[in-house]
Amino acid sequence: MITDEEFVRITVYMKQNYGIDLSQKKVIVNGRLEKRVKAGGWKNFNEFMDDVESGKSDEAKKLLVNQLTTNHTYFMREFEHFDYFKQVVLPWLRVKESGKKDLRIWCGAASTGEEPYMIAMVLADFFGLEHDQWDTKVLATDISTKVLQKAVEGIYNAEQLQNLPQQWKRHFFSKMPGGEQYKVKDVLKNEVIFRQFNLMNPFPFKRKMHTIFLRNVMIYFDDRTKHELLRKIYDILEPGGYLFIGTTETLDRNEVPFQIIQPSIFRKKEG
Ligand SMILES: C[S@@+](CC[C@H](N)C(=O)[O-])C[C@H]1O[C@@H](n2cnc3c(N)ncnc32)[C@H](O)[C@@H]1O
Repeated sequence: MITDEEFVRITVYMKQNYGIDLSQKKVIVNGRLEKRVKAGGWKNFNEFMDDVESGKSDEAKKLLVNQLTTNHTYFMREFEHFDYFKQVVLPWLRVKESGKKDLRIWCGAASTGEEPYMIAMVLADFFGLEHDQWDTKVLATDISTKVLQKAVEGIYNAEQLQNLPQQWKRHFFSKMPGGEQYKVKDVLKNEVIFRQFNLMNPFPFKRKMHTIFLRNVMIYFDDRTKHELLRKIYDILEPGGYLFIGTTETLDRNEVPFQIIQPSIFRKKEG
């Protein structure tokens, strides 16, 4: 069992490095790590954290992040956002970017890929035959290498796809031998670029984003971390650009100058 001192050490590290506040989650932290720390050959949590903090062991750091992030997600989650994206955001972008035909869309907590693949399917649907003329690749990032690996693999169980429109299922997924699993086809996979990225780091993007999906991740951050992140997000949005957050999340309207479109849809002032 984790000691109080070890627990504090882990929570401080997670908060400082990833913004994730686990200070009330001792049982979860112990449950998710204990066996794996032992299996990895570390005698106790302190020894494990020595390796994490010294930067000597990439393996220890990965284990910590992979075990202590919550990666729950699913296809069609909060579908009203995709609807709004298709009905309002994309028609605006089609006109605004008609010259360069280059969209920059970022999904900042992509987990196992369901959300960025949804965005890419909506884009394909919206542009239809015109899609070839546009660069609409979605940048999908997450801090956990474990989920990113799953996302790149793009293999999902039949139940995970059960709520997808049949047409999307047929067009973008192929049934694997045995029939219980489906694999994302290359036409869809090639439309998403997966990268590891920690939202706490300075943003490295050279050009501003047209739309950012940052859904169901800020719930793990405290207010200060959240506000700092939102300010960075505001700065890297194009004028008129949109931000989607989870429908159960809130954003303090005094902290960031977004225009509130709906409680979970925000827009940067145009021009
Ligand atoms: C609950 S999932 C949300 C997935 C998806 N956005 C959705 O709404 O269904 C939260 C994701 O945020 C990621 N995450 C947590 N802290 C992060 C950070 N500091 N930088 C990048 N990703 C982070 C986790 O690894 C996890 O995959």
